[in-house]
Amino acid sequence: MSCYRAEPMTGTIAIANQKGGVGKTTMAATLSHGLALRGKRVLLVDCDPQGQIATFLGMRQESVLFDLLVATAACAG
Ligand SMILES: Nc1ncnc2c1ncn2[C@@H]1O[C@H](COP(=O)(O)OP(=O)(O)OP(=O)(O)O)[C@@H](O)[C@H]1O
Ligand SMILES: [Mg+2]
Repeated sequence: MSCYRAEPMTGTIAIANQKGGVGKTTMAATLSHGLALRGKRVLLVDCDPQGQIATFLGMRQESVLFDLLVATAACAG
């Protein structure tokens, strides 16, 4: 009997470290960029309330993860 296991279509990479200033944001941005350059579809989620990843990518911080998780949920409820 054989068992076929398909390669996973998606994956999650978490970059976390309690210590500040050790390169978490830099690694998240550069790793995401590298994966995108290789044709991967990447969703980059910044859980840091400072939202520095937006700054890193040259984006304006119009809303934060809190708005998505809490404010949107409150609207739906
Ligand atoms: N591999 C590296 N070599 C040299 N400098 C680096 C490297 N990675 C990050 N840095 C620099 O270290 C500093 C801190 O990096 P970064 O902001 O990514 O850390 P962080 O862990 O996200 O910090 P925080 O905890 O404040 O969110 C930045 O000035 C960044 O440019
Ligand atoms: Mg950071």
